[in-house]
Amino acid sequence: MNRRDFFSWGTAGFVALCSGVAVSLGAVVRFLVPDVFYEPPQVFKIGNPGDFPFGPPTFLADEKIYVFRDRDKGFAVASAVCTHLGCTVNYFQSDQKFHCPCHGSVFARGGDVIHGPAPRPLQWFEVTVTRAGQLQVDKDKVVPDSYRLMV
Ligand code: FES
Repeated sequence: MNRRDFFSWGTAGFVALCSGVAVSLGAVVRFLVPDVFYEPPQVFKIGNPGDFPFGPPTFLADEKIYVFRDRDKGFAVASAVCTHLGCTVNYFQSDQKFHCPCHGSVFARGGDVIHGPAPRPLQWFEVTVTRAGQLQVDKDKVVPDSYRLMV
């Protein structure tokens, strides 16, 4: 082996060693940084009571909820997530029912299943008023459909 061969093999070996170290470091960094699924917050403010009209519910797409405001009964917040496979249900004022566009489930205004395949009623979430006077929804606190917040 002459001097030129020695250095070319040495260079190739050095490059291979550096590549191996780089791949190993990458694996270590990947191991140290966990896969994290960031869920949206379950407690959030939705605005002032006056922001919501009486009558048909207000759909908040980002939060996937319907906010009902009844002059006599107050506020109630229903989930817009179908209990079958999670599609977003639509509320129709004409028949006052929730309809799922995916597989045809129909829910009564109170959330009960009228027509499957949805296995369970829609959920209702606790709604409260903050000290600043804003409505706050807590999706971790499921309440009966009779729950109402008077403001
Ligand atoms: S997801 Fe609503 S009926 Fe299937």
